[in-house]
Amino acid sequence: MSHPADTPTLVVEDLRTSFATERGALKAVDGVSFALHSGQTLGVVGESGSGKSATARSIMNLLPPGASTSTGRVLLDGRDVRNLSRAESRHIWGVEASMVFQNPMTTLNPVIQIGRQIGEGLRYHRRLSREAATRRARELLEQVGIADPDRRLREYPHQLSGGMRQRVMIAIALACEPKLLIADEPTTALDVTVQKQILDLLDRLRRQHRMAMILITHDLSVVAGRTDEVIVMYAGRIVEKAPTLRLFTAMRHPYTKALFESIPKVAHPSHTRLQIIPGRPPDLAKLPAGCAFAPRCAHAQPRCLSEAPPLSIGDDTEHLFACFYPAGSLEGEAAAAANRAAGRTAGGLRLANGTGTGEEVSS
Ligand SMILES: Nc1ncnc2c1ncn2[C@@H]1O[C@H](COP(=O)(O)OP(=O)(O)OP(=O)(O)O)[C@@H](O)[C@H]1O
Ligand SMILES: [Mg+2]
Repeated sequence: MSHPADTPTLVVEDLRTSFATERGALKAVDGVSFALHSGQTLGVVGESGSGKSATARSIMNLLPPGASTSTGRVLLDGRDVRNLSRAESRHIWGVEASMVFQNPMTTLNPVIQIGRQIGEGLRYHRRLSREAATRRARELLEQVGIADPDRRLREYPHQLSGGMRQRVMIAIALACEPKLLIADEPTTALDVTVQKQILDLLDRLRRQHRMAMILITHDLSVVAGRTDEVIVMYAGRIVEKAPTLRLFTAMRHPYTKALFESIPKVAHPSHTRLQIIPGRPPDLAKLPAGCAFAPRCAHAQPRCLSEAPPLSIGDDTEHLFACFYPAGSLEGEAAAAANRAAGRTAGGLRLANGTGTGEEVSS
């Protein structure tokens, strides 16, 4: 739960990251801001390509060459961590803040024993002896729920199941007791039962260590009941931000609604056809002038094409959304009804290519 009086563990202010591409600068993160307190979990949700990982990697200084982060501040425990020396930076990222990635197979080293991989950070950052690091690695394996830790310490990644490998990744991330843990789609590659176990494990460890946690997922159902606050990203921007319960009881952005409708419903688990959001995300190297979601939006009106809605509409400081015609408002429902009456399906607007895929909009 939040402690407004404390210094937040993490403050991100106006983060902007772009990648140099042949077609020009691709804006992967476009003005993202949020704050996160110790013991709190922030959910970051959005379709593939919406900038979730780029946001995480920008915070962690883990961007590939060709990426540039301009403006903005990242404060860890009140300390600006943008312009640190290499050595300082290495100490902070991995020790005070660490990350669990989507695919453990690409992050774990296939030819190094599990125990050594967990102990490496401890030896380097905490200067532990080999024996002490191994003892601690064993403890960590127990903490993340791996049976027979003595045997597992000596094994290699391919000898472990997917779920166990993800547990090892979590053990590595936790080894130096970070204040901040970023879990980027930590369960996407796993089956549903193991997914739940891993998410429960992260939750328990977060509480035990009073860590701040960022849980990144494309699946809105994953953040329900597991996060304190959610930000919804589209085309590198936050389009909605709210305390989790508020978001689920009163989602305002048509994109959040569309994401929600694409969740498989428990009541019809078997062969229910999912509602797919029509159209494709925009080209981030050629963002439209207006709202980036407009070409796919059932509420869109001409204004949405020419003017980008700011995130601060409304007078609620806890629940923010960037939409001129939000769900649940008279204007929003009227806009949707007018679009339906006019037979405008995919988006509210006539599309230049006439297919309703939202790729080209005449302006
Ligand atoms: N190294 C890179 N070079 C160029 N473009 C990149 C690079 N990495 C990411 N991008 C682009 O940046 C945008 C945001 O990517 P990002 O990986 O943050 O998306 P995401 O929300 O994490 O998606 P996913 O759910 O698929 O993981 C995408 O358009 C992607 O193609
Ligand atoms: Mg990603």
